Amino acid sequence: MTDKNRQILVTSALPYANGAIHLGHMLEYIQTDIWARFQRSNGHECYFAWADDAHGTPVMLWARAEGKSPEELIDMMNEEHKKDFRDFGISFDNYSSTHSDYNRELVEKIYTRLDENGYIERRNINQLYDQEEGMFLPDRFIRGTCPKCRTEDQYGDSCEACGSTYSPTDLIDPRSAVTGSAPIIKESEHYFVRLVDFEDALKDWMASGALQPEIQNKLQEWFTDGLRDWDISRDAPYFGFRIPGTEDKYFYVWVDAPVGYMASFRELCEREGLDFNAWWDKDSTTEIHHFIGKDIVYFHTLFWPAMLMGAGLRTPTAVYAHGFLTVDGAKMSKSRGTFIRARTYLDHLHPDYIRYYFAARLGPGTADIDLNLEDFVQRVNSDVVGKVVNIASRCAGFIQRRFEGKLSGTLPRPDLYDSFISARVDIAADFEGRNYQSAIRRIMTLADEANRYIDEEKPWQQIKEEGRETHVHDVCTQGINLFRVLMTYLAPVLPFTAERTGAFLRLDVSDWRTIDMPMLDVSINAFQPLLTRVDPLKVNRVIEDSKESLQPADSEEGADSKTSIEALADEITIDDFSKVDLRIARIVAAESIPEANKLLKLTLDIGSETRTVFAGIKSAYDPAELEGRLTVMVANLKPRKMRFGTSEGMVLAAGPGGTDLYILEPGDGATPGMRVT
Ligand code: MSP
Ligand code: ZN
Repeated sequence: MTDKNRQILVTSALPYANGAIHLGHMLEYIQTDIWARFQRSNGHECYFAWADDAHGTPVMLWARAEGKSPEELIDMMNEEHKKDFRDFGISFDNYSSTHSDYNRELVEKIYTRLDENGYIERRNINQLYDQEEGMFLPDRFIRGTCPKCRTEDQYGDSCEACGSTYSPTDLIDPRSAVTGSAPIIKESEHYFVRLVDFEDALKDWMASGALQPEIQNKLQEWFTDGLRDWDISRDAPYFGFRIPGTEDKYFYVWVDAPVGYMASFRELCEREGLDFNAWWDKDSTTEIHHFIGKDIVYFHTLFWPAMLMGAGLRTPTAVYAHGFLTVDGAKMSKSRGTFIRARTYLDHLHPDYIRYYFAARLGPGTADIDLNLEDFVQRVNSDVVGKVVNIASRCAGFIQRRFEGKLSGTLPRPDLYDSFISARVDIAADFEGRNYQSAIRRIMTLADEANRYIDEEKPWQQIKEEGRETHVHDVCTQGINLFRVLMTYLAPVLPFTAERTGAFLRLDVSDWRTIDMPMLDVSINAFQPLLTRVDPLKVNRVIEDSKESLQPADSEEGADSKTSIEALADEITIDDFSKVDLRIARIVAAESIPEANKLLKLTLDIGSETRTVFAGIKSAYDPAELEGRLTVMVANLKPRKMRFGTSEGMVLAAGPGGTDLYILEPGDGATPGMRVT
């Protein structure tokens, strides 16, 4: 282990400001966060800063559609994103937006230097123009027939049917996706960065070890194909920074996005009193590591370093690309409920679960990572809860009850403890090299050893034998010490559980340098479950809540009671009926939903859990009079997404309707959770 103190800035790719954070993003942000926490755990000065990517045509059009200013929308999203990250335990030091004054200043400075150094070229190009909207159309906002295979309704840059790429002006019968009108071809002046000028410098940079082998190969291919000039300007209207010296030209969003890394870090420097310029100086000894997805390699390994080189600044120490997240072997899908938003996950599941799972699957390469939901439940439960936390729970009870909460003064197996701490070198090398899956494998092998040790010693048996008390004390002390080392290694992965472990052991478990000293003769607190098992039903809830319901989400239909006299429905058998799980529920809260005509939001206690149910009984009940009352609910009704939230069941009511509608109330002796038969 090296003691040299490194100064490190890490970044993740900036999420677009016009969308919610989903688990695909979280794969990257968790990967980055584990690395940052690992560096800090080992005494390095490590900052993690990034931002929202606020500019571009989609945000502009979104704002128009909403009748709001882009600023208003991006501010709202920024808050939402930050909250998601915090709740996932992402330890960022700064989170900003590319729409900031610092960013504008830096973008202008870099551009001016590139221009002064002769790297910017201006020339006219032809582009498709929407006359109705008065704007040039980005490739993604043009649809038309593929010139190669003639499939209709393809994007302006590539065909999803035959995979060919082309220029939007080649499309047959092009249409604007904004207005649907047929665009015309119009000329305008664009600004370009001559990438070939940087080819040699880029090759040197590539040889410095900044890139993964597969990315180096990719770059080699691009060099062989020949580097094309990079178009960095866009015509008004555009949401972005105006190019100095022009009236109606803006920087393309991919110019100011990576500069956003610098600008966010600059904010942090101001706040913490760090020397920003020293970090970005050509000869700086600081390190800058970018974590990105494999889809944006071109931008980070050609455009971005070229911009920095052209402006006389330092280049990144490393760019690490990861693969894409799939769920149950397929691309995330809205209809299957596997396009999971960060918030939907957090509504039901603990962040450390997925942090662990991602770590257990992430390697140093760019292979895609599959979130297999069954494997997710099984692995977290058997590894984290069943193996690691279990060590503590097996030993803590004895310490608490028999030895007044105090650890003994000796380790019966110092050699075993030593083997745990010497694993640090290999585990650290794995984390450093982003081979988290290997680190996890090593840690779990150690956890198995610790459990085997306890199995062999059988403290629960020895405690009943004459004169074995001291030995049991030592054995449990050994167990707690082994657990502490394991939790220290896992702290970058499981920050919330590590925090709870710290409270249990009365010792910070995040610093890897402290484990040389075992915990002896010290008091610890009573054991509290540090992390409970993943409940597979909650995983199902996440999927249910992620499904885009086939019924329009904003209709109230289905939630209200049928009040008219209708023909009787088809006959069902007693078996069909017994599938309906009717439970007594206590209405612990009832609130009116002002925007809905018929709905009340009920919080129902059914003993084992509480449920939210939207019931169409507003016309008959004042919410206040419902609170505290018992009713009958269908407890196994598939949760249904509605405009105001997810309804997790249904309450039974009868009556002709309107104000004459009565929720069913059970008789005496009923208690919440009781099954109604
Ligand atoms: N705004 C750009 C990045 C600018 S960086 C100067 C962008 N935004 S994004 O929101 O589309 O993606 C942000 C990051 O999340 C990218 O690194 C992207 O690869 C990653 N991911 C987005 N979807 C993903 C998965 N399904 N799986 C894994 N990573 C994914 O690109
Ligand atoms: Zn085609």
